[in-house]
Amino acid sequence: MIVLEFTTFLGRFHPLFVHLPIGFVFLAILLEWWQSFKKPKKINPLISIGWFLSGLSTIMAVLCGWYLGETGLYEEEELFLHRWLGIVLVPIFFVGWWLKKHYSSFPKIVQHGFNILIIVLLSIEGHKGGNLTHGETYLTEFAPEPLKNILGAKDQKVTKQFQSINPDSIKVYDDLIYPIFENSCIACHSDEVKRGGLNMAHADSLMFGGSNAPVVIKGNAADSEIFRRITLPQKSTKFMPPTKKVLTYDQIKTIEWWIDQGASFNATIADVEVSKSMKSVLLRQYGLNTEPRPWYEKVRILPLDSTKISAIRQQGFRVNILGEEIPLLDIQYTGSDLTLEKIKTLEVAKNHITWLALSGTNVKNEWLSGISNFSNLTRLELDHTVIADEGVVYLKGLKHLEVLNLYATEVGNASLIIIKELPELKRVYLSKTRVVPEDGMNLDNDNSKLSVIITAKD
Ligand code: HEC
Repeated sequence: MIVLEFTTFLGRFHPLFVHLPIGFVFLAILLEWWQSFKKPKKINPLISIGWFLSGLSTIMAVLCGWYLGETGLYEEEELFLHRWLGIVLVPIFFVGWWLKKHYSSFPKIVQHGFNILIIVLLSIEGHKGGNLTHGETYLTEFAPEPLKNILGAKDQKVTKQFQSINPDSIKVYDDLIYPIFENSCIACHSDEVKRGGLNMAHADSLMFGGSNAPVVIKGNAADSEIFRRITLPQKSTKFMPPTKKVLTYDQIKTIEWWIDQGASFNATIADVEVSKSMKSVLLRQYGLNTEPRPWYEKVRILPLDSTKISAIRQQGFRVNILGEEIPLLDIQYTGSDLTLEKIKTLEVAKNHITWLALSGTNVKNEWLSGISNFSNLTRLELDHTVIADEGVVYLKGLKHLEVLNLYATEVGNASLIIIKELPELKRVYLSKTRVVPEDGMNLDNDNSKLSVIITAKD
């Protein structure tokens, strides 16, 4: 629209005009102070003229400022005070003009008091205006730390840190997307101020879109107006947000991911696909670890009775409790005097043992039958023993076994069938065994979750 363009053109003169009243009135005040030292009978008429010119130029600044505000490129709430204080300044300047014209009719204290009042008001007004164009932290951003504290400047912190919270309890929209909108967009896209006809405060109003069309196309960020606006060159007049609360790379990536994943308002992080790059964004930006947690962190179990632990220790086992929060056990035996009886004493801790190391012991194939029902066993070390395929058979039922070390044992290809069937197995060591290296590697290729560590026989 031509009219709108012309008023926007006028609006751009605001920054030019705002400096005039400041210059005029400061000069007038300086002149007045200078003269009050010299105590002349009549004060210089330039002083009241200075106040008059300040009033006139403030009218110009207010007019241009009004049009600039109407472009909608400023946050309504912040604009309000700046706009109205500017308007109030006009009559104040003219009162000043009148006061200075009748200088001797008022006590000096009134005259000086009025000067101080205008300096304070102008400072507030100038600061508010500066914040609108440069952002709230502009003035204090590089201030020394102690000064920052005095001025009450806080660093903008947009994101919350979840840490240790389960990905399936975090909602993509409510917890990640909406806070970004709230911080950078909703000041201009709400129930009250719907710039461009767009209200981003609610799910349905967001999906309804702006005055032109929908702004979110589910599953397609590239075609979504919202995404286009935040990824335009920042110089573009269509770039969003037009304020200083520009989105970070990670925030833009998060919005893109949300739209590409279907722009759901209910989905949790566990419901959607998290690509590798998104994983690092979530970790960096929100401290959210989306890697699957090891089984032993998920087990809920009461600690084992301490007398039972002592009984196991008496058999020569070294016993460690994983941690305060995790009462699972890490058990190790070293030496060559292991017996079936000793292994049987472990039965009392069958739900508590999560790591078991029998490396280098004289453990026999049949004895492994005693550990086949250890329900939370995640790591089993049998390296440097005589364990063979007959022993591996007993490991079939270990539903949570993640690491199996069979390095330098007698196991052969027959064990591969059992190993393949272990549902949670992530790593298996098979070097220096009877397993044919090529066959061992094939296992790796068949199952992307499993890595097989095997080297050719030397
Ligand atoms: C300071 C005010 C302000 C802020 C903050 C702001 N916008 Fe806008 N927005 C506008 C104005 C004014 C328009 C209308 C003019 C235009 O289309 O450029 C608009 C238009 C839009 C439109 C086009 C709507 C349509 O259908 O025409 C989209 C999309 C949009 N904004 C997205 C955003 C997003 C996303 C954010 C936050 C990252 C944001 N805006 C922050 C002022 C703002």
